[in-house]
Amino acid sequence: MSSQFRAPKGVPEYVPPQSAEFLAIRTALSEPARLAGYGYIELPVFEDTALFERGVGESTDVVSKEMYTFTDRGDRSISLRPEGTAGVMRSVIENGMHRGGLPVKLWYAGPFFRAERPQHGRYRQLQQVGVEAIGSDDPALDAEVVALADRAFRGVGLTEYILELNSLGCAACRPAYAGLLREFLTGCELDEATRERARLNPLRVLDDKRPEVQAQVAAAPLPVDHLCAECAAHYDATRGFLADLGVTWQESPRLVRGLDYYTRTAFEFTHPGLGAQSGIGGGGRYDGLMSALGGSELSGIGFGLGVDRTLLAAQAECVEWSDPDRVVCFLVPLGDPARHEAVLLLGALRDSGVGADMAFDSRGLKGAMKAADRSGARYALIIGEDEIAAGTVMVRDLVEGTQEPVPIDDVVVRMMGSAG
Ligand code: HAM
Repeated sequence: MSSQFRAPKGVPEYVPPQSAEFLAIRTALSEPARLAGYGYIELPVFEDTALFERGVGESTDVVSKEMYTFTDRGDRSISLRPEGTAGVMRSVIENGMHRGGLPVKLWYAGPFFRAERPQHGRYRQLQQVGVEAIGSDDPALDAEVVALADRAFRGVGLTEYILELNSLGCAACRPAYAGLLREFLTGCELDEATRERARLNPLRVLDDKRPEVQAQVAAAPLPVDHLCAECAAHYDATRGFLADLGVTWQESPRLVRGLDYYTRTAFEFTHPGLGAQSGIGGGGRYDGLMSALGGSELSGIGFGLGVDRTLLAAQAECVEWSDPDRVVCFLVPLGDPARHEAVLLLGALRDSGVGADMAFDSRGLKGAMKAADRSGARYALIIGEDEIAAGTVMVRDLVEGTQEPVPIDDVVVRMMGSAG
């Protein structure tokens, strides 16, 4: 009988054996940040709606169309987090983390929620690994953050992705540029919704992917050509440090990104194996965010890497993952006295750090051996009447197809030697 219940639409579930790959990828994506001194932050999954409205921007699709917003029992407007940066900034301000040494360097991982139209690689519950580095304007930090994302994808085994880089200017030079762009856009033939977007945030029109819009904005003024001297110097220095770090990138003068807080450096990683949803990660500077949220005037830079899409990209590149959590040995007890021996041995193996499982429900040899194969274990440890009488265990190598009796007192040490 199949249940009437289904997972919510657009929510990917990772079940064994694929879930092992998901976990391994999430761990690999966070490894470079951990090695670079970023501390872990565990954030709330929901926050005040106003935090995202003020932090991410009311004109963004993410906030205006895609948030899961509800009123809680205390009549507060709450939203499931659509992204991590605003929550990190809230926490840094609330906990006064910026009063210690700067920059504050943090990483996080977990689910985020966006009510998008589901399709391959676009989910309503999506998983990210992110970092945020707060309180430094040093372009070497921009390069560090971009390089960490690059190293994360390389650590997963990806080679075919592209890093796109742009600079969006700052509070000093952006308004004049936005005015110029807005003026240019009034002369274009755009539909009503795009015209409205041009009014609210003209930069967003620049990276509209529709060919008819692209044709209209082909001759539009670009942010990089209108940077103030400080932003231009910052961008040059960032590229210099990135070159030092051996990172390769493409200049992408129309890259804008979908969240409103970005200033100066903006970047995105795309993968050709993913079709329309090609963005596997992205980020940038957000120098006005902390003060917009009521904190001090500290700058910041960070990224979010999409774990679900990285998994799809790894599959597209046929990256092989071994499952570190598979058990090493699988115990096959035949008969009740053997089941007691097996339970004791299982405990001893696990106490010694050896991954071990056993056949439950008094199965016969055939059924138990099938379970051993399914477990992925290298060794089946068979205990029958003969073995109990001799004080041994039959150790069968499931890969080589060989077997030999081993004194029961030696089994744990033998298996510990095989586990590495
Ligand atoms: P974002 O570009 O909106 O940035 O999301 C980062 C990554 O999350 C995307 O590149 C993509 O891989 C993944 N992602 C986003 N939406 C979906 C979806 N519906 N389904 C599957 N994957 C998705 C941010 O969220 C910023 N907070 C990143 C950041 C941190 N910027 C500065 N600091």
